[in-house]
Amino acid sequence: MSATLIDGKATSQKIKSQIAVRVEQLAQQGIVPGLAVVLIGDNPASHTYVKNKKKTCEALGMRSDLLEFPESFGEGELLEVISNLNNDPEIHGILVQLPLPGHIDEFKVILAIDPDKDVDGFHPVSVGNMMIGREAFLPCTPHGIMKLLEEYHIDPAGKHAVVIGRSNIVGKPAGQLLLQRDATVTYCHSRTVDLAEYTRKADILISAVGRAKFLGKEYIKPGAVVIDVGMNRDENGKLCGDVDFEDVLDTASHITPVPGGVGPMTIAMLMENTLLSAERGLT
Ligand code: GUN
Repeated sequence: MSATLIDGKATSQKIKSQIAVRVEQLAQQGIVPGLAVVLIGDNPASHTYVKNKKKTCEALGMRSDLLEFPESFGEGELLEVISNLNNDPEIHGILVQLPLPGHIDEFKVILAIDPDKDVDGFHPVSVGNMMIGREAFLPCTPHGIMKLLEEYHIDPAGKHAVVIGRSNIVGKPAGQLLLQRDATVTYCHSRTVDLAEYTRKADILISAVGRAKFLGKEYIKPGAVVIDVGMNRDENGKLCGDVDFEDVLDTASHITPVPGGVGPMTIAMLMENTLLSAERGLT
C-alpha cells in the first residue's frame, strides 16, 4: 500500500491564513509585526531562503526588513546592527541567517539577540526554556515537524522516534520536542555504527542528514512515519530529500515529500513566532 503524503504546502497555507487574520486584528491596534532578517555574504542557498522569508512576510501583511552586508562585514559591526534591532520597537523578530562567514563567531551573534525577539529559537535562553518545557520561541523546523504530526493525527506518545542528525537547528531540538510529547527518542548521527539497525526500529523517523536519497526501504520499518528534512540535489540537479521517496513509498505509512514537506512549514513557523512576539508586546 502506498504511504499517505504529509502535505506541508497545504498545512502551511492553512496556518498562514490563520496568521493573516491575526495580523489584521493587530493592524486595527496600529501594530504591524516586523521581522528583521540579516544576511551576510553571498551564499546562494541563503539568498533563496531569505527572499522566501521576506516574500511570505509581505504576503501576510507583516513588515520585513532585509539587511544585507558583504562577506567582509566585521563581527563588531554585526553586533552593533543587532543591538540597534534589539532597541527598535517596530522590530519584533530578529533572524541572522546562518551559516555566517568564518571570521564571525556564530555563538556570540546568537547571544547578542534579545531572547524576546529570538524568533529562530536559537538563543541559549530559548533553548533552555524549550528543554524544560517552558514557554519559548521554538526553532522553526522542529516546530514545523511537530505541527505536521499533529495535523495528520500522529501522536508521538509511546512511539519510538529516531532522529538522524544532531544539529542545534534541527536534530537536537526535534528529539526534545518529540520527547516532550512522550516519544522514546534515539539520536543517530554520522558516527553511529550500523544506522539501519536503529532506523528499522523507528515508528517515527526524522532525517536531517543532507545526503541525497540516502535512505532506501532497507532503513524503514513497515508502517513508519517518515519525515524528511533533507534539501539536496540529485544527480540531475533536481531538489530531493534524504529519503529515496519512490523506494520507501510502499513501506512507510506516511511520508513528507521534498519539496513541499517540511520546508514550507519552517517559514510558516517563523511567521507565527514573529506574530507571537508582536502579540506579546500587548500584554
Ligand atoms: N540556516 C538554515 N536554516 C536556518 C534557520 O532556520 N535559521 C537561520 N537563522 N539560519 C538558517
